[in-house]
Amino acid sequence: MITAIRSAVFRRTLAGSLVLGTALSACAAQAANYTMYRDPNCGCCLDWAQHVEQGDTHEVTAIDHPNMAEVKAERGVPADLRSCHTMIADGYVIEGHVPEADIARLLRERPANVTGLAVAGMPMGSPGMEHGDHRQPYEVIAFGPEGRSVFASYN
Ligand code: CU
Ligand code: CU
Repeated sequence: MITAIRSAVFRRTLAGSLVLGTALSACAAQAANYTMYRDPNCGCCLDWAQHVEQGDTHEVTAIDHPNMAEVKAERGVPADLRSCHTMIADGYVIEGHVPEADIARLLRERPANVTGLAVAGMPMGSPGMEHGDHRQPYEVIAFGPEGRSVFASYN
């Protein structure tokens, strides 16, 4: 994929050497593509993906996976922080119903030693889990090899 993009933007100068064209910056302005792994029997994941896609800046590719526990173990999601879907966003792991604004902040700030963000379980009222007036307070946890911290909290 990367190879294909590069060969498309390299062009020859008059001197015959290869330079990168402006196509690279055009590339960066395109919608970021996120990959979400989900259990095919779960509906809230798709509702959440729709929330993430709001604003037209992101596109979520949904991949049905028969063994989500395996996906989470491979990506280093701590057992007590697990939820339904697991998304890969620009190298970060996004576990569960994390608000889009927090993903955007993560990608902006890129804190050191953070593997990703997680909202454990499926709190009522979190994005994709809106059911009437039911609301549960929840926290967005940043997790990584050095431990974890509260990234955001919602009431
Ligand atoms: Cu869910
Ligand atoms: Cu779900």
